[in-house]
Amino acid sequence: MFEKALKFSLDRIKENIAEFKDCFLSAESSGYMYQKNSECIDWTEGFWTGMLWLAYELTGDSEMKTTAEGLDKILQKRIYDRLGTDTHDLGFLYSLSNVAEYKVTGDADAKKAAIEAAELLILRFHEKGQFIQAWGSLEDRDNYRLIIDCLMNLPLLFWATEETGDSKYADIAKKHFYTALNCVIRDDYTTHHTFYFDPETGDKVKGVTRQGYSNDSCWARGQAWAVYGIPLAYRYLRDESLLDLYNHITDCFFERLPSDNVPYWDMVFTDGDEPRDTSAAAIAVCGILEMNKYFPNEEYVDRAMKMMTALENSYLAERNSNGILTDAMYSKPDGSKPECNVWGDYFFLEAIMRINNPNWKIYW
Ligand code: GLY
Repeated sequence: MFEKALKFSLDRIKENIAEFKDCFLSAESSGYMYQKNSECIDWTEGFWTGMLWLAYELTGDSEMKTTAEGLDKILQKRIYDRLGTDTHDLGFLYSLSNVAEYKVTGDADAKKAAIEAAELLILRFHEKGQFIQAWGSLEDRDNYRLIIDCLMNLPLLFWATEETGDSKYADIAKKHFYTALNCVIRDDYTTHHTFYFDPETGDKVKGVTRQGYSNDSCWARGQAWAVYGIPLAYRYLRDESLLDLYNHITDCFFERLPSDNVPYWDMVFTDGDEPRDTSAAAIAVCGILEMNKYFPNEEYVDRAMKMMTALENSYLAERNSNGILTDAMYSKPDGSKPECNVWGDYFFLEAIMRINNPNWKIYW
């Protein structure tokens, strides 16, 4: 299924290896062309390695594997040298690079580096507020907040507990998870992007957006992070009460889709000329397919396939681009334009992998 999109994605990845063999792709393209990212201090480097591991598993092409291994080594050096590690995004970075490598090849160095990443991630946990701080210095009042995206960083911690037998990683992931659910989800099941706490008392203060339209709107990618983040936590926690919440959040995502099934960048918009965020669609599809393993829901899968069909038919970056999906939106409030985003490309390929190989062993 989605043969055209699959072939297109694999061809793009193969072509990109020539330019991005020893470096990463920029987080977003510029004029639909990714630039070289040689620094490896962003939150996004794991998406390129993740794509390479997926492509290797799908094709058996050894060049995909050796390229991913080489780039994973750069991420290993990053974690030991503490370069750009002052962030909660260690989960995104290491699940899709060194955890993926360990799961695919059993490499011991990859496993060790990913455990080290988990070790650093739990240092960002605040006992008082019971959450993992997203960005910046832990002493910084203005950064005393969590963000919904962090749901995707928790699988690294659950995995680290499974691998080491040490419950400390999963304990923190669990505490953060329930704190996050308790504050970012509104009564109508739309979501806040970020949520502040009082550093003195740990009490909840307020929801504030960073990449959405307004503090009371619903940033599409944030909603998609919840549609995927809840199933990933369910996978480890097996808390059946999550199903009801997941259903409401997913219904809310579907209800706010425009007629072509690809969300606007913020779900306050349901028609008109606002830019889309194709990456939010790809993320949500992966979440729906993950939850479907535990709680089969034909209607949701059918709607997810409609999103995939729309992406394949109308949003492949076929002309003058080195990316895969057009019309992803990084951060409209920061002036981003519709571009390819490296995570949109990653999740699109992960969705295709899931559809064609339901038994695929996930990297999360
Ligand atoms: N995690 C950052 C973003 O979704 O843009």
